[in-house]
Amino acid sequence: MRTGRIVSASLALSVALGLSSCTTTVPERSQVRSIKGAVDVPVGVAIDVRGTAGDAASVVSAEFDQITAENDMKPEAWYDDDAQFRFGPGAKKITDFAVAHGMSVYGHTLVWYKQNPEWFFLDDEGGELTGSASDEAFLTERLRTHIFAVAESFHNVYGDFGTDGNPIVAFDVVNEAISDANDDAAGLRDSSWERILGEDYIDLAFEFADEAFNDRFAAPDADRPVALFINDYDTEFEGKRDRLHSLVERLLDRGVPVDGVGHQFHTRLSTDVDDLGAALAAFDDLDVLQAVTELDVATGIPADNAALDEQGDYYRDAFRIFRERDDPLFSVSLWGLSDDRSWRADEGAPLLFGSGLTKKPAYFGVIDSAE
Ligand code: G3I
Repeated sequence: MRTGRIVSASLALSVALGLSSCTTTVPERSQVRSIKGAVDVPVGVAIDVRGTAGDAASVVSAEFDQITAENDMKPEAWYDDDAQFRFGPGAKKITDFAVAHGMSVYGHTLVWYKQNPEWFFLDDEGGELTGSASDEAFLTERLRTHIFAVAESFHNVYGDFGTDGNPIVAFDVVNEAISDANDDAAGLRDSSWERILGEDYIDLAFEFADEAFNDRFAAPDADRPVALFINDYDTEFEGKRDRLHSLVERLLDRGVPVDGVGHQFHTRLSTDVDDLGAALAAFDDLDVLQAVTELDVATGIPADNAALDEQGDYYRDAFRIFRERDDPLFSVSLWGLSDDRSWRADEGAPLLFGSGLTKKPAYFGVIDSAE
């Protein structure tokens, strides 16, 4: 368990503020600690390449342990305009940044119903794939080829998974496989993957990912160096949570190599923060890791001072729940660095930093969760 390092308050603040080293005021403790120095669970942040440059890069490397690519490692990002596979330029830049700053990388995502190349579910003649045996075989091969190509790309540049030079510690293998409504016997989302391959697409994705990341391209002495996650949102609500739990139980019963469950937690002030703890507790009966993968807390509009203060308390209480679990979380990741770059910006200031990278009450709430 990492322990936060408390530095000399006056020295740290003077350095942080660029003052001379003789400042006399003793700052609030929370003004001098970083998130990664205060919180004893690995904390990550989702970025695009803007997070690897300028002031944003300084904040990312100073405050966080881990990086997720918000979009640059999704299926579409690995193919050029001629449908040729190549190491995604954004994925490379983000991973290089992580290596340069001693940070780990949580990959997102190998399989999703969105952000695929437009040809992904078409045959070589451009026809829509069906559930025929030949089309199933065709798509299965395409799935395997994609997953191995992604794993091999990282391996060829950063070395075996499980060695110091390779920062990949986890990957979302299948994202958002669960139906939002209770409209499917198996609880699965209607998607091209599901329509063509059935639930087996999930088994296949994990089996291919395990073979590629934890065997073929892993260090000989490494034991499962890349944790393989199934990831979804709205697990703070019972219906979807129960459907995901049932799926993960089936996968584990079939011996599918699922290492962990990712809870996105795209939440809001009106959701009781204890519902986040309930979502995590609901999976404690399964032999899986758990991670909070895409945390953001919308304040609603207007994001006035009262809402921002309430959000600070919410983040404080949420991180207390995350930190105080008997079964430690793999990591907790924020879905973005600053409000102005959030996909939920129009729902009200969901992240820890404001525009201009100002530290909000939400930031200090995370720090103070370690009180
Ligand atoms: O890169 C293009 C750019 O070239 C173009 O000019 C611009 C305008 O069309 O679009 C840009 O692509 C956008 C992309 O984000 C990169 O900014 C897409 O339109 C936009 O749809 C895409 O949104 C992303 C969304 O996933 C796609 O579904 C969000 O940034 C991203 O935060 C969001 O993340 C998802 C997770 O992967 C899974 N969980 C839910 C979460 C929120 O939807």
